[in-house]
Amino acid sequence: MLNGMKIVVGVTGGIGAYKAAELVSRLRDEGATVPVVMTDAAREFIRPLVFETLTGQSVFTGLFGGKNPLPHITLSESDLLVVYPATANVIGQAACGLGPDLLTTLLLAFKSPVILCPAMNSRMYENPVLQENIKKLEERGYVFVPPETGRLACGKAGTGRLAPATTVLETIRGVLAPKDLKGLKFLVTAGPTREHLDPVRYITNRSSGKMGYAIARAARDRGARVVLVSGPTSIEKPSGVSFIGINTAFEMREAVLSHFDASQIVIMCAAVSDYRPASLSKRKIKKENAELTVKFTPNPDILMELGSHKNQQILVGFAAETENVLDHARTKLQAKNLDLIVANDIGREGAGFETDTNAVGLVFRDGRFIELPMMDKLSVAHRLLDVILDLLQYD
Ligand code: PMT
Repeated sequence: MLNGMKIVVGVTGGIGAYKAAELVSRLRDEGATVPVVMTDAAREFIRPLVFETLTGQSVFTGLFGGKNPLPHITLSESDLLVVYPATANVIGQAACGLGPDLLTTLLLAFKSPVILCPAMNSRMYENPVLQENIKKLEERGYVFVPPETGRLACGKAGTGRLAPATTVLETIRGVLAPKDLKGLKFLVTAGPTREHLDPVRYITNRSSGKMGYAIARAARDRGARVVLVSGPTSIEKPSGVSFIGINTAFEMREAVLSHFDASQIVIMCAAVSDYRPASLSKRKIKKENAELTVKFTPNPDILMELGSHKNQQILVGFAAETENVLDHARTKLQAKNLDLIVANDIGREGAGFETDTNAVGLVFRDGRFIELPMMDKLSVAHRLLDVILDLLQYD
């Protein structure tokens, strides 16, 4: 998504300046061109050589004396400017419209989106003057990625730690994404379910939630309103979506049914357990020196139920298969009355459960089939949303 974009990273003088190297590196990995602007104070914390090595180009450090006579104007023609970290000083100068150096002059000339990532001691962050400056800039359309709470450079705990590069990367993607799903209401499920046997044991599966969360993030970034119903996962919850955490298939069914009528697009990515133990022991089952037989009973098929009730919704299912992937996916599409099913060959290396990448095929109700190459789960999510948008437009 960032391929071909020009994203300027401004680095100011804070202890978190070293984290900018990771951000620059991640942006380069995604195909962006990344000019770096450093203030004098930033160069006290990290050497320009780090960024020059990562980007393959010289770092911009001043208004005068470089090969380019107007660096603030040339750089202002970029797609986005992110200041990471942003000190109280640079935020104050931006709020007052001052331009004593290249970075602040660039902020004055910049017309595309600007993201500021404050990082400083909590005493400075909590200062009402700084908070007023942030508010003023937010009202002018600047996007802020707030600092985290944790151990600060002074050794004490407080709010002021620079947000991680991954969070900023997500904000960048969100700001730059086309808003072509604006106003649409999505219901997305993700993760596994847990089916309890006794108070300490359950059966579940290996779903990490990565695929479903990527869909929720991508839809949110493209302007949709998203309800995400998720089984237990250990990955970060996407911000800016309505999150409903559940444990069992029955709880997922209840959450999904209560949001179904209000949704226009429903994507069932969760790995719902097909069975649950037939009885739930109130006490921990004791170990005995004999075989233990557990009887299972079928869970409700949530997607089947949605398919039989659907009215205006676009209904999308996933099919996690290890053999005859397409045949099984087509059978599920028909049986569950879906508009589209994502055929997921979970036996393939780098695809399916827990991986960061996925390789899927999209099977349509009218028989069409699109095979997608292996790509990261967020890119799969965007390709899926592209075809859903087409379905909505030609419906
Ligand atoms: O979470 P990750 O680690 O990123 O892994 C992603 C994934 C492999 C879980 C995902 O890509 C995927 O394939 N999800 C579907 C998993 C699944 O349960 O597939 P299924 O073929 O068993 O079910 C078919 C469809 O019916 C699915 O949309 C499922 O959500 C739904 N279903 C299944 C059983 C049930 N009782 N109720 C349901 O609604």
